[in-house]
Amino acid sequence: MDKKVEVLRKLKQEALLGGGEKRIEAQHKKGKLTARERLELLLDENSFEELDMLARHRSNAFGLAKERPLGDGVVTGYGLIDGRPVYVFSQDFTVFGGSLSEVHAEKIVKIMKMALKNGVPIIGLNDSGGARIQEGVVSLGGYADIFLLNTLASGVIPQISAVMGPCAGGAVYSPAITDFILMVKNTSYMFVTGPNVVKTVTHETITSEELGGAQTHATKSGVAHFAADNELDCLMKIRKLLSFMPLNNMEDPPSIPSDDPPDRCESALRSIIPDNPNKPYDIKEVIRLVVDEGDFFEVHEEYAQNMVVGFARLGGRSIGIVANQPAVLAGVLDIDSSLKGARFVRYCDAFNIPLVVFEDVPGFLPGSEQEWRGIIKHGAKLLYAFCEATVPKVTVITRKAYGGAYDVMNSKHVRGDINFAWPSAEIAVMGAKGAVEIIFKKEIESSSDQAKTQEELVAEYTEKFANPFEAAERGYVDDVIEPDLTRPKLIRALKMLENKVDQNPRKKHGNIPL
Ligand code: HXC
Repeated sequence: MDKKVEVLRKLKQEALLGGGEKRIEAQHKKGKLTARERLELLLDENSFEELDMLARHRSNAFGLAKERPLGDGVVTGYGLIDGRPVYVFSQDFTVFGGSLSEVHAEKIVKIMKMALKNGVPIIGLNDSGGARIQEGVVSLGGYADIFLLNTLASGVIPQISAVMGPCAGGAVYSPAITDFILMVKNTSYMFVTGPNVVKTVTHETITSEELGGAQTHATKSGVAHFAADNELDCLMKIRKLLSFMPLNNMEDPPSIPSDDPPDRCESALRSIIPDNPNKPYDIKEVIRLVVDEGDFFEVHEEYAQNMVVGFARLGGRSIGIVANQPAVLAGVLDIDSSLKGARFVRYCDAFNIPLVVFEDVPGFLPGSEQEWRGIIKHGAKLLYAFCEATVPKVTVITRKAYGGAYDVMNSKHVRGDINFAWPSAEIAVMGAKGAVEIIFKKEIESSSDQAKTQEELVAEYTEKFANPFEAAERGYVDDVIEPDLTRPKLIRALKMLENKVDQNPRKKHGNIPL
């Protein structure tokens, strides 16, 4: 037996080296860690259990029979994060550039199936040259098997993708279907076609980083939810992200005890809204003053900044925050912010994370650019997402709630459970100036001496509608609250909604306006 154990140990030792010392050195020189080093940092100490360490490819084409490294370019298994289980795969660039072969795909599919069956999140660390070129169509089939499982697992278990090296061609579509994509600045890129093809087809000269680097996808395309400064930062962000999530869609998110008093009043909230309704303020300041320990984990921080989304806790419980940002484009809803908000709302709803909405929105962004790109169908996505969400949903209107955007942003009418307004709220079809110009057009044009001046008319409209009381009279807001009390009011509301049960009509699936 001892000899056999010795053989096993040797094999495993060999597997640990992946593509060998030289390639590991090359990986480090690029500022990248190896697949195993990444898992060590990601998972709780000594918690990783590897599967299929002894798997090898079965291809004979193009000299592959001579080179059959153990593990075949991907490290798979399970481990713990903060004591909670996760399944992981980590592509090993030192073995055939982390390229995806039949066996490599089978290993990933195996742990994805385990994750799905056992109701545990799956995390993929991507670093790959794409399809294993020597294996041809078998590799493409492997990708499709993964895409299918990504889709079947969507909304059942959280799926997180980190892109920590190349991720190109059809390979991008696995991360794209997962819930969150994290990229590492300067060492990762994602694109459907790389700079060389771009140059040939469009004659455009562009670097990989410009075309599909972390910063590009975190700011321009919105493909990446997070752009990490380095690999360690990326892996720590994954740990933090998971801390807000349940293991699967049948569980509630974990509760983490907080020393922040649930009845904490915050007088600073009283002076945050400027006297002039057209002046901006930072909604993130409001969020930080309200949530436990001021800890707000923002998602899509640099994309569509007129909308703010992210995770926090109230009274120890995870919440998803969706907020208009008056400091950027006056908080207007446009295509990108609608998409950003809709996707986040649907994630929270799928995984039983209550939604808290902070609303200060002047309406949808006008203009041909937005209309021609389809603000109608994209804005409808956000509306649809709020309408179909059955998790506890609470809204705080801090200032403007105008027009269709009032309806969209988790209004009472779309099943908001508890809707608060601050006394500074202005709930109306539109701003007073615009309203007066339309309904008193003739009076303004005639400008007879007896007629009221435009300023008087604006003041009259403002007094009648630029407040929360008309809506409160009708029960469209459940209470007008003093800003100081926002935290205790939200915590109490969420407590009362803890056992909420709401359902949508039975259907195969809805038809969200894609
Ligand atoms: C097999 C590959 C490989 C691949 C890289 N390698 N990509 N082996 N199949 N797809 C091997 C290299 O031969 C090399 O082996 C090692 O990995 C490291 O590659 P280098 O080129 O030395 O590294 P680097 O300079 O960092 O460049 C990385 C790279 C480049 C940009 C990813 O390797 C590259 O362009 N690879 C090809 C990418 C590609 O066209 N893939 C197919 C895309 S189509 P040695 O032995 O020297 O260490 C696709 C379709 C998916 O993926 C469709 C899904 C639906």
